[in-house]
Amino acid sequence: MIPQKIYAVYFSPVESTKQIVCAVAETMAEEMSVDTDIPVEEIDFTLPAAREKTYRFAADELVIFGTPTYAGRVPNKILPFVQDLFSAEHTPAVSVVTFGNRSFDSSLTELTEEMEKNGFQVFAAAAFACRHVFSDKIAAGRPDEEDMDRVTAFAGVAAEKLLSADDAGSLTQPVILDGAPVAPYYTPLGIDGNPAVFLKAKPVTDPDRCIGCGVCAGRCPLGSIDFSDFTQTPGLCIKCHACIRLCPTGARSFTDEAFLSHVAYLESHFTARKDGTTFF
Ligand SMILES: Cc1cc2nc3c(=O)[nH]c(=O)nc-3n(C[C@H](O)[C@H](O)[C@H](O)COP(=O)(O)O)c2cc1C
Repeated sequence: MIPQKIYAVYFSPVESTKQIVCAVAETMAEEMSVDTDIPVEEIDFTLPAAREKTYRFAADELVIFGTPTYAGRVPNKILPFVQDLFSAEHTPAVSVVTFGNRSFDSSLTELTEEMEKNGFQVFAAAAFACRHVFSDKIAAGRPDEEDMDRVTAFAGVAAEKLLSADDAGSLTQPVILDGAPVAPYYTPLGIDGNPAVFLKAKPVTDPDRCIGCGVCAGRCPLGSIDFSDFTQTPGLCIKCHACIRLCPTGARSFTDEAFLSHVAYLESHFTARKDGTTFF
């Protein structure tokens, strides 16, 4: 079947997931367009405003749906939105997760299962390694050219699978990691190998560097930063690093010792290159 429209749907605070999901959508559109180009539309539900409505997809459309891996799973504060905002009428779909070169553990299985519960017909799934937002020493510069070649190859095979199906009902589901069930959340460790507890840690602002532009508050996925005083973060912090990575002057950082100890642990164990995995 040839879809009438392709949606690139993603939660992506630091935009690696966005880059991968959009590349899959664009490549599949190119591969499947015959006389007229298949339109591609982005649905970015990273910010609160986009989560005030619901989205329903039709059987003749295609959805590429992506989230990052947080603690080996779909980010737990975002899971309810994945469950409640998106529904489908047997819409063919591709599930995609990114991960920061440690492991995607159960995130792809969890995302795929949740999508299927919502009526999506997932027929291809993939996890791709990207820079770890916590550190410039883990998978820096990724996705790189080699990663993007893998993304394009994955999208090509997914397009072939969809084209050779008569309808969404005849598409087979991918078996992810031999069908292993979703495991508990990953427990972050400190440099001493013991669990590192930093649930309540929040970034701090260097007042000498802050220029008051408000990018941090505007890009916080939970709207947790005070718009009248950008140095204050009264709301919940999910450690997504959007405010840190997108700040034009590098004014924000974590100083919490347990968090920094976990980053040091990751840097000492997970710098060897890992590649993505695809499932059909
Ligand atoms: C809170 C948090 C937890 C994370 N947990 C994992 C993990 O368990 N395994 C892993 O390999 N990467 C992990 N990462 C890294 C992200 O999955 C990776 O950097 C991702 O590509 C970020 O996506 P984005 O750029 O779209 O925001 C974590 C990142 C954050 C913010």
